[in-house]
Amino acid sequence: MDIRISDTVKYVGVNDYEIDLFESQYMLENGMAYNSYIILDEKIAVCDGVDKIAYERWMENLDKELNGRTPDYLIVHHLEPDHSYSIDMFANKYPEAKIIMSANALRMLAQFADVDTSRVIAVKEKETLPLGEHTLTFMMAPMVHWPEVMVSYDSKDGILFSADAFGKFGTVDADEGWSCEARRYYFNIVGKYGKQVQALLKKAAELDIKVICPLHGPVLTDTIPEVLKLYNTWSSYEPEDRGVFIACASIHGNTLKAAEKMKEILEKKGCPRVAMADLCREDMAESVEDGFRHSVLLCMASSYDAGVFAPMSDYLHHLKHKAFQNRTVALVENTSWAPSAIRTMKAEFEEMQNINILDKTVSIKTRLTDENVKELEELADLIIENV
Ligand code: FEO
Repeated sequence: MDIRISDTVKYVGVNDYEIDLFESQYMLENGMAYNSYIILDEKIAVCDGVDKIAYERWMENLDKELNGRTPDYLIVHHLEPDHSYSIDMFANKYPEAKIIMSANALRMLAQFADVDTSRVIAVKEKETLPLGEHTLTFMMAPMVHWPEVMVSYDSKDGILFSADAFGKFGTVDADEGWSCEARRYYFNIVGKYGKQVQALLKKAAELDIKVICPLHGPVLTDTIPEVLKLYNTWSSYEPEDRGVFIACASIHGNTLKAAEKMKEILEKKGCPRVAMADLCREDMAESVEDGFRHSVLLCMASSYDAGVFAPMSDYLHHLKHKAFQNRTVALVENTSWAPSAIRTMKAEFEEMQNINILDKTVSIKTRLTDENVKELEELADLIIENV
């Protein structure tokens, strides 16, 4: 793809239009991009490789930009196989090239590649690599998304090579905005490591960044202030939107009906934003993202096996994994004989950090009654006070 970065920095990444599941769990509607970049200077550096499916096309892209020259360096910002798969092929094709990575990456390298480690240069925080007019400065970014991750900054063109940070699902030419799929990517892939993302943002704040070149998704330029602001909100576990996300898990449809009624009530009462998902049918990663996005999470679920219906149990498990915190939570259950959903959901949220569980709950007995609707109205008032 012809993506302009600067006169001497070129995009050599590959779009994967066929993939429908990333990391064996995240559904993709618009494929995935494995980004790679080449800096053509007195010395030539290639920033990151690609996944196995994209290796041959990556080599073609490299050949085209190299135009007969040979690269001096492969910079490995991140060792996950979607980027590191091609290290060995690169090393074999260019036997004189050095491989640059963090010390942590070098320690892990043998798990991912067979390259002779005498060709590897491990760099430290703020170490530089002069290429001619371009000089790369390396900065460690542990746990964004793996422990060995580093980013680098090119002072000539103001480019931050940001590894997985600021990436998104979707090919680089997907006809969609950045934030929706970047948010789903962030909370599901990096979300647990907010503190470490904050540390990276502090480093980024000291740089004059004109371009962000992530390992997935589009190259970012004009939208950088907005992107940095969203990353700050997300990584500090603050809600992005004042509003309610209704997560519903219903066996025979009665709880779903109650959730739809609650959505209507909240909207009528002027709640600033109301979103809803049927956990039994919708993408789990999207629901995780929506849980983090809103200031209040309303969980409505059937009681089941003396606990809570499995799709809700699964959802809470995902939230806990991703360090869900700092939110107000409201609970509604349905039961036909033995109420257990509220108790179970409450116990799960009590194990998360800084969750304000509203005292008012609603317990429905199979079908929604007029009395239940009154209770939902009262709960809606309380939710809106906390939005
Ligand atoms: Fe794109 Fe964490 O690998």
